Amino acid sequence: MLGVDEDGRLHVAPGGALKGEIEIEGDKSVAHRALILASLAEGRSRILNMPEGDDVARTLRALQDLGVAIERTDGAVVVEGRGLRGLREPEGPIQCGESGTTARLLAGLASGFEFVTILMGLPGLRRRPMGRVAEPLRRMGARLYGAGGGERLPLCVVGGRLRAIHFDPPVPSAQVKSAVLLAGLSARGTTVVRERRPTRDHTENLLAFMGARIRRSGAATAVTGGGKLRACELLLPGDLSSAAFLIAAVGLLPGSRVTVRGVLLNEHRLAFVRLLQRAGAVVDRMQAGVGCGETMGDLTARPGALQPFRIGAREVPGLIDELPLAAVVAVRAKGRSVISGAKELRVKEADRVRTMAAGLAAMGARIREKPDGWEIHGGKPLHGAEVDARGDHRSAMALAVAALSARGETVISNPGIGKSFPRFVERMNGLIA
Ligand code: S3P
Repeated sequence: MLGVDEDGRLHVAPGGALKGEIEIEGDKSVAHRALILASLAEGRSRILNMPEGDDVARTLRALQDLGVAIERTDGAVVVEGRGLRGLREPEGPIQCGESGTTARLLAGLASGFEFVTILMGLPGLRRRPMGRVAEPLRRMGARLYGAGGGERLPLCVVGGRLRAIHFDPPVPSAQVKSAVLLAGLSARGTTVVRERRPTRDHTENLLAFMGARIRRSGAATAVTGGGKLRACELLLPGDLSSAAFLIAAVGLLPGSRVTVRGVLLNEHRLAFVRLLQRAGAVVDRMQAGVGCGETMGDLTARPGALQPFRIGAREVPGLIDELPLAAVVAVRAKGRSVISGAKELRVKEADRVRTMAAGLAAMGARIREKPDGWEIHGGKPLHGAEVDARGDHRSAMALAVAALSARGETVISNPGIGKSFPRFVERMNGLIA
């Protein structure tokens, strides 16, 4: 069972398999994009299955600050789109909280408007790099001024008439790519982003779904400025990165079997499902439909004898949010696993390489921190411990999954789970047989 104490620490007591069927709240990445593009559409959009986490709430509030009428009604979020040129200057700074997606996507969006937008962040987000998004936007003609020599929040965006660019992102990042594509919507000409390593493509899918002038060929995506976005009904598929915690726990706990219904099955997000299969768990996938330009369906997971594995830089972008969980699977698989090429984990909500190495080692795992990942000798039994997630939601939930397969209780401080999956505890407990 899982529980939260009055200091907000997460307690995990092992025991029991996970069983049942579950539907999960909408995907966080898709939700940010649905809110932004619905705000730029002509007319009223309804978004269904909106997740309740803090990050998406920041984007919703930011768009309201930019003059968009958005209302949460029973079961739907209704967005009164203002058209591609209809946002208005916010009256004060926009608070992005701890949401990197909000800050980076909004930097791109605001760049195309001839007014001043100030993007603020809470302490964790203020430490994260923003130069990667500021640089291409400056090339498009926007002026961006940030703390730390333009590298950090607060960021002041002075938008204007943009010109299209050709952009080869030096760091694989869906947030940076999306910022450039959003700016491209209001630029003169055709903006092209060419990715060396593909990242999640929800912005592209939703732009196409809503009628933007977008073309994709191989690694390149081209957006031509102008045109119109169609308001629509957008059903958000369940969050695959949240579902990952449930199916990973199923993979580790003998006798478990869980089906997650209506979850996102986008090819660029399925790498963790494939990794679990490669490691020996059974995960069956059934495609069931399409929601806002994204494939969705059901996943059924069962445990299997786990094998060690290797992950290198090429696989990292597709697994970026699931790497803490991959470390947990490696800790439970007998033998040597190596996860490398994952330096990006050091600039997420916390330094995830360090946080997971410290947490899993405290639970008895043989794990060595490397500059860009971990080396793990799996198969040692885990025991309960006091660990610190350092405010990182994904490390907290990954450590909770490890704790479910340990002996004795684990206490996780600074879990920060409200960011993406506020119902994690309730959902997990609902599945414990
Ligand atoms: C996201 C992209 C990824 C991911 C984050 C959400 C997105 O970040 O880690 O949780 O919605 O675009 P990067 O673009 O920095 O890799």
